[in-house]
Amino acid sequence: MPNAHSIAASPHHPGESSVRSYSRTFPVVFDRARGPYLECISGETYIDFFCGAGSLNYGHNATELKEAVARYLAEDRILHGMDMMTAAKFEFLEVFASQILAPRNMDYRLQFCGPTGTNAVEAALKLARKVKKRRHVIAFSNAFHGVSMGSLAVTASAKKRSGSHLPLRDTYFFPYEGFAGGIDTLDLLESCIGRAGSGYELPAALILETVQGEGGVNIGSQAFLQGIAAFCRRHDILLIVDDIQMGCGRTGPFFSFERFGIEPDIICLSKSLSGFGLPFSLVLMKPELDIWQPGEHAGTFRGNNLAFVAATQAIRTFWSDGRASRSAAAIETSMRNWGARLRQAHGEIRDIRGRGAIWGVELDTPGRASAITRLCFEHNLLIDTCGPSGSVIKVMPPVVIEEEIFNHGMQILADCTETVLHAGKTEGPACISAS
Ligand SMILES: Cc1ncc(COP(=O)(O)O)c(C=O)c1O
Repeated sequence: MPNAHSIAASPHHPGESSVRSYSRTFPVVFDRARGPYLECISGETYIDFFCGAGSLNYGHNATELKEAVARYLAEDRILHGMDMMTAAKFEFLEVFASQILAPRNMDYRLQFCGPTGTNAVEAALKLARKVKKRRHVIAFSNAFHGVSMGSLAVTASAKKRSGSHLPLRDTYFFPYEGFAGGIDTLDLLESCIGRAGSGYELPAALILETVQGEGGVNIGSQAFLQGIAAFCRRHDILLIVDDIQMGCGRTGPFFSFERFGIEPDIICLSKSLSGFGLPFSLVLMKPELDIWQPGEHAGTFRGNNLAFVAATQAIRTFWSDGRASRSAAAIETSMRNWGARLRQAHGEIRDIRGRGAIWGVELDTPGRASAITRLCFEHNLLIDTCGPSGSVIKVMPPVVIEEEIFNHGMQILADCTETVLHAGKTEGPACISAS
């Protein structure tokens, strides 16, 4: 009788499509996970600085969330209910309103859409076009908003766009801050949009990431983000903030834009919203924009009740006393020190930038970045690259992590960087124990 280990001996099963990606980057068979650690079937333990691309801000299987989910299952409570009202959904709505929206003086309605991030983006774009009765949307260079057709149309990545073989249209792309050297995007927007004879139609919306995660950890400055918000207001363009990767505390506050005093018309949330790795996405809209007809935008999995339960508990556990924000602030302080040391030691590092618990280490070549992340994996650290050419190492630990474990992960990254950049100078980085 084969046991679980012999069944799952390889990260490649011949039945799975070649579209798979992360099983290539991290070619082991994972089985268990707890807090900042992942364990594969051989018992090897890894520190997770990848975190499901931002879906695990509170780490894996956080105790309070696990207990709430287990209780809910044990009591035979409803799991699937289309978008019918359930006790779990009602409680989530109440807790989100009282603990997230009210303290921030935010007045938004919540739309539950399909379960993934791209479902939220599709709904947001559709609503914006419906409200404004206009076609076009402004998006940015290196933006990533998902891979379904509407989201792909506002995603800049050539690789992601190339597979569609359909027109990806009605998007005006402008350079994100810092994309094209000295170009002032705010000036450029003003000279193109709303100006007679420019050839641009007035768009319905502008979709913005305050930090571009997939695009290379590009940080929108306060001046840039506030300038964009003011531009949208001046021209009657709806501002959609895609906080799918940077929300839920990744940059510090619950919403990545809140420290800048920006009030988006529409907000997309997903990834760490359930806090438990369960699919869940949300569109938040200003009440006056809620012109949907009943059932006009639908989806079978709009009511993932297990995700509601986990999300409600995540808010109670990590947001009632600012625990998540404090932890992100501590990571930011620590990363500034690590960043300064790494830059000083290695001329091949072009830049280290970040905010809260999201940091990018930009190498001079993609080859060096991927050599470092590969070596990190060999030394028990999961970490990925991002950016248009893959030259940025994306440091994305759990937002809630003990300082000692964070520093251990960073030490592996620093040692692997040293080994790759100055091959032969060191003995090689220290492994963590596989306990
Ligand atoms: C900013 C942003 N928007 C949208 C998405 C798409 O989310 P999903 O992969 O769940 O469809 C992602 C995924 O990485 C993202 O980072």
